[in-house]
Amino acid sequence: MEKSKVLIVGGTGYLGKRLVKASLAQGHETYVLQRPDIGVDIEKVQMLLDFKAQGAHLVVGSFSDHQSLVNAVKLVDVVICAISGVHIRSHQILLQLKLVNAIKEAGNVKRFLPSEFGTDPATMANGMEPGRITFDDKMIVRRAIEEAGIPFTYVSANCFAGYFLGGLCQPGHIIPSRDSVTLLGDGNQKAIYVDEDDIAMYTIKAIDDPRTLNKTLYIRPPKNILSQREVVETWEKLIGKELHKSSISKEEFLASMKGQDYAEQVGLTHYYHVCYEGCLTSFEIGDGGEEACELYPEVNYNTVENYMKRYL
Ligand SMILES: NC(=O)c1ccc[n+]([C@@H]2O[C@H](COP(=O)([O-])OP(=O)(O)OC[C@H]3O[C@@H](n4cnc5c(N)ncnc54)[C@H](OP(=O)(O)O)[C@@H]3O)[C@@H](O)[C@H]2O)c1
Repeated sequence: MEKSKVLIVGGTGYLGKRLVKASLAQGHETYVLQRPDIGVDIEKVQMLLDFKAQGAHLVVGSFSDHQSLVNAVKLVDVVICAISGVHIRSHQILLQLKLVNAIKEAGNVKRFLPSEFGTDPATMANGMEPGRITFDDKMIVRRAIEEAGIPFTYVSANCFAGYFLGGLCQPGHIIPSRDSVTLLGDGNQKAIYVDEDDIAMYTIKAIDDPRTLNKTLYIRPPKNILSQREVVETWEKLIGKELHKSSISKEEFLASMKGQDYAEQVGLTHYYHVCYEGCLTSFEIGDGGEEACELYPEVNYNTVENYMKRYL
């Protein structure tokens, strides 16, 4: 089967750059949106030039120029968007409605993968304020895609390893301490951690797979379904030392959110759902979903232990 041509939108981002790399590595003709709006952001420009040197095509287009988006999506079969959606960095999820309009008008796209890559927003109808905005906005985009009749795959990638393993599941930390850790509650709720390069690799594997058409792809590497305590134990084994442990109760955690700025509060509510409520592991995958490691058993995904070795 001929491999789809792919357009990556948000290709210079934390996940986006990995999607570009994975798409090229898996032999897809890869296009990356180059937004004139990036101005003199030299890092982005250099990254785009690197992509080009590796074989990607740069295609100029802006969210404020509808026709440019239509022209860009007309070049490809599959569009993957990895636009920002983390409030402490930037949250642009609803801009994707413009991309949906462009894909609808172009009419040629066989599959669209919007910027999701986290908790399945469809399971978060009772999400807490203010963090629920992430889920609500992602659901608005889903509705627009489905109303436009655009074929899709939604990727639920659970926890990015860099944030959650790097910080031993503590919000506000991304480098593991060698001295102490604060457990969220009893630290026993299970979550799922995925190496961001693996997220990109599974995503690209799914784009031409009929089994993931109009479905949600959940990435649940079996060895990486661990509680915070188990993550800490893994780290302790690696450093050969026990950390001093304290704990923050649910009530204290929620009270600590007050007074923090809005973007911080959004992130904290996400940690609350994952670490106190176990929202990632509290449901079975239904008919509308597939699990990545089951679909692609040949893949050697990165384990939590191996991922954490980088911090030694
Ligand atoms: N599960 C998790 O733990 C987790 C963690 C982090 C993120 N996520 C999810 O992953 C997705 C990607 O997040 P990320 O952290 O990789 O994003 P990011 O690095 O913050 O940003 C990605 C890209 O979005 C584009 N962008 C930013 N502002 C824009 C604007 N005003 N107009 C148009 N484009 C703009 C830029 O791409 P260009 O300049 O190249 O166009 C940027 O490089 C989001 O859906 C997020 O919610 C999940």
